[in-house]
Amino acid sequence: MSNNLTAAQLPDLAPPTFLKHLATRPYSECPTLTQLHTDQMVNGDESTFEQTWLTEPEKLQLKQYGFDKRRREWLSGRICAKKAAMQYLARATTAPLAALDLSIQSDQSGRPYLISHNPQIAIGELDISISHSHDMAVGIAGSNYCGVDLQYLNNTLFKVKNRYCSDFESLILDELPADELLSLGLLWVAKEAVRKCLSSIRLIGFREMELIGVAEKDGIYTLLLSSALSGISISNVASIEVVAHTVGDYALGLCSIAKEKIHA
Ligand SMILES: CC(C)(COP(=O)(O)OP(=O)(O)OC[C@H]1O[C@@H](n2cnc3c(N)ncnc32)[C@H](O)[C@@H]1OP(=O)(O)O)[C@@H](O)C(=O)NCCC(=O)NCCS
Repeated sequence: MSNNLTAAQLPDLAPPTFLKHLATRPYSECPTLTQLHTDQMVNGDESTFEQTWLTEPEKLQLKQYGFDKRRREWLSGRICAKKAAMQYLARATTAPLAALDLSIQSDQSGRPYLISHNPQIAIGELDISISHSHDMAVGIAGSNYCGVDLQYLNNTLFKVKNRYCSDFESLILDELPADELLSLGLLWVAKEAVRKCLSSIRLIGFREMELIGVAEKDGIYTLLLSSALSGISISNVASIEVVAHTVGDYALGLCSIAKEKIHA
């Protein structure tokens, strides 16, 4: 595949309909999202991206990855999350923002978080989430706990269906105006987005979460998952909401829950 991808060749993971849907949410609940095609950094371009986007500790971490594919997805995910964080921060500050003012580290579970090296830039409550699949990466940033998941729609979703989809959930998905692959992709990204969103408390198992409803409007899906989760209490939330859609061969899911509502 060419490394000179034009905008027209890239699936737009956040088209206007999706952004319009997100914008119906309160300001603080509306995370920023950016995407990158991982092939944009092959054949030497990687070092340019590295110099522009990574701090010294991040460059050292990148060196630990021997496989090109893993290097590209890790780097792409970092760039996307930093871009999303800079866009989010730019809404509230006039201070100049530079990529090297921010580092992304991961906690023991792998959950990424931001650090600011610039005293003028306060990270505050800003949370980030990263996902990569096939040859695309996405990153989101928001002041709530957030989780994003991107999934290339392929047969693996059928092969591992019983790991994440119950008979009851299948019946709910059957009501969607979508084929089975697409429906399963939506369920998968919804559950992964919730897992990432709540992972600072605990990484929830797929079958611990239950889909209880789904609605579609203008190609944007709202999936509702039961908020009854062992060891996690979410106040004033009857169900956990994930906004999801499919673009080309990908499904994308996004979850955002106010930090003060979540208790261990
Ligand atoms: C991470 C996980 C939740 C989703 O990953 P996935 O669907 O396979 O892959 P995705 O591309 O969508 O997401 C990967 C990104 O999720 C992020 N991530 C990893 N662990 C995470 C966690 N606990 N919480 C939130 N985000 C996490 C990372 O940024 C990672 O990308 P990076 O390694 O390039 O930084 C899944 O792999 C998982 O269940 N991991 C558990 C592994 C585990 O138990 N590890 C124990 C470590 S002690």
